Amino acid sequence: MPARQGQRAVPDDFRIVHLADVPEAIPILVRWFVEEWEPYYGPDGPGDAERDLTACCNRDELPVGLLALDGEGKVVGTAALKSESVETHRHLSPWLAALVVARDRRGERIGSVLVTAVEDEARRLGFDSLYVAEDSSSGIMPRQGWIPMKEGVPSLRDPMTIYRRDFSPRTP
Ligand SMILES: CC(C)(COP(=O)(O)OP(=O)(O)OC[C@H]1O[C@@H](n2cnc3c(N)ncnc32)[C@H](O)[C@@H]1OP(=O)(O)O)[C@@H](O)C(=O)NCCC(=O)NCCS
Repeated sequence: MPARQGQRAVPDDFRIVHLADVPEAIPILVRWFVEEWEPYYGPDGPGDAERDLTACCNRDELPVGLLALDGEGKVVGTAALKSESVETHRHLSPWLAALVVARDRRGERIGSVLVTAVEDEARRLGFDSLYVAEDSSSGIMPRQGWIPMKEGVPSLRDPMTIYRRDFSPRTP
């Protein structure tokens, strides 16, 4: 797949695009969501992965879905900027959510690139901070400069930690 105008170049031949540009990727992502968040998106869970992903096909309003594509145009990761995420913390917004990297491509910094891309989207859309909820199986956020603000938040999987990323300039 040729790079489109305005696409961000990222290391190692990956590039980040809006999910809205490649909606045909949704069935792959639905499979990943069910694998990763089975209690929520599995057949017995309350979630609907296809509905949530379709809702993320926006560019300039939330929710905004992003995809990481490899040099051959294959989908290798996804993440989203959403107005809400954790049910118990609806007063916080916006959120980095739905971060998943293809199981056979983990450890190649694709997740880190996606986190940075969602931060860039949040800044582009005028937000001065961003939140994420991460469970202990991931461990990626503290390495990216995010500050933990609440631990032990219950979820359908393991307890989560909520992290905050602040973009506003520091006061002296
Ligand atoms: C979490 C996830 C997105 C990481 O993607 P990735 O492309 O493998 O991550 P990266 O290669 O960019 O790794 C970034 C850092 O996090 C660390 N890391 C990644 N996965 C980790 C894990 N499971 N446990 C502990 N540390 C981890 C890496 O060692 C790396 O550390 P470094 O910067 O010190 O080298 C991926 O494992 C995944 O899709 N997990 C399932 C879904 C999930 O848990 N999503 C997170 C919700 S917030």
